[in-house]
Amino acid sequence: MNPADATTARRPASSVLPAQHRPAGVRIAGSGSHLPEGRLTNADFVKFLDTSDEWIVQRTGIRERRMCDADKGENARWMGGNALRKALADARLDASELDMLIFGTVTGETLCPATACRVAAEVGAVGAGAFDLAAACSGFVYGLNLGHELIRSGAYRRVGVVGCDHMSSIIDYSDRGVAILFGDGAGAVVLTPTDDLSKGILAQSMHADGSGWHDLYLPHHIRDFPAGQPGTPEKVHKLQMNGREVFKFAVRTFGDLIEQTLTKAGLQADQVDHYVCHQSNARILEASRERFGLPAERLHVNIDHYGNTSAGSVPLVFDELRRAGRIRDGDIVLFVAFGGGLTWASSLWRV
Ligand code: UT7
Repeated sequence: MNPADATTARRPASSVLPAQHRPAGVRIAGSGSHLPEGRLTNADFVKFLDTSDEWIVQRTGIRERRMCDADKGENARWMGGNALRKALADARLDASELDMLIFGTVTGETLCPATACRVAAEVGAVGAGAFDLAAACSGFVYGLNLGHELIRSGAYRRVGVVGCDHMSSIIDYSDRGVAILFGDGAGAVVLTPTDDLSKGILAQSMHADGSGWHDLYLPHHIRDFPAGQPGTPEKVHKLQMNGREVFKFAVRTFGDLIEQTLTKAGLQADQVDHYVCHQSNARILEASRERFGLPAERLHVNIDHYGNTSAGSVPLVFDELRRAGRIRDGDIVLFVAFGGGLTWASSLWRV
């Protein structure tokens, strides 16, 4: 049998369900995460940057981040693939049963092929649909919403959603306003249909405002820099950020997004069991916690260990909570993120 026949033979019938079998419930059947062993502490930065542990902790809450060793082949494909394998194992699903893989990243090795295609092949989901989703730090939450709707529509049954970024590959480590903030990491979930109609998304939203692109962007050419801010060859392929503007945008947007999503679902802030938020800066998270009067244990913070892992941060938090046994059947979980684009998104679940 030639390989094309093997692939086709594997999955024609499973992908599309007859209308009468269309499920309305969607569950998060498994989760996983993967972090590189390499660590970069605040003390490490002090050795080569004009900064201090005190400044970094006070302004961001970060103490250390993980960092891929590119020479060992550690990258977005490696982290994301490992996170997905763990999520599949947690869901007790064989990779060949996946119908679709959505891979939220802005740091894949190549634009073509999408990292999703190679990850799908490497884990054994050959023939499943696979694409990268470029919504920066919002990538996982966008993917979660799309994956849910693919299943709820009845068109697909088992969808893997990965959020993963290899931030160290795009950081200029001489830029102290950016370098101290980011780390590498990946998280993943596997979504499946369920007859329990109470499970799945209660309210969601996805937004973008490209007019703010120049506050957080990755130039690939000298011509990519905004008017009035001439680029240099050293800045090409390195993340450019106007931290102060992104901070203001984030504090405003995060709170508003939470409020709008709760209103859509007719819920009050204290009815949400877990706020799984993008780990951008501890001060941004604290502002939201204060605005809604949330107890600390409901808005989980792990930025101190991992920094801002972009699309990886939301699924990393979720997987940590799940592995700690803190996510119980029927809990209400709100996923929220914002990032480059500018983009912002929410996904409110009964899990
Ligand atoms: O996922 C979305 C991605 N991005 C974000 O979420 C970023 C949001 N923004 C932030 O988290 C914060 O803006 C930063 C942590 C990036 C910066 O903190 P800040 O309190 O907004 O500092 P700032 O940019 O207003 O700078 C204040 C001062 C400046 O010095 P002068 O001009 O007052 O003399 C900076 O040069 O702090 C200086 N500075 C530093 N000092 C020591 C900037 N970075 C550092 C540093 N160490 N690492």
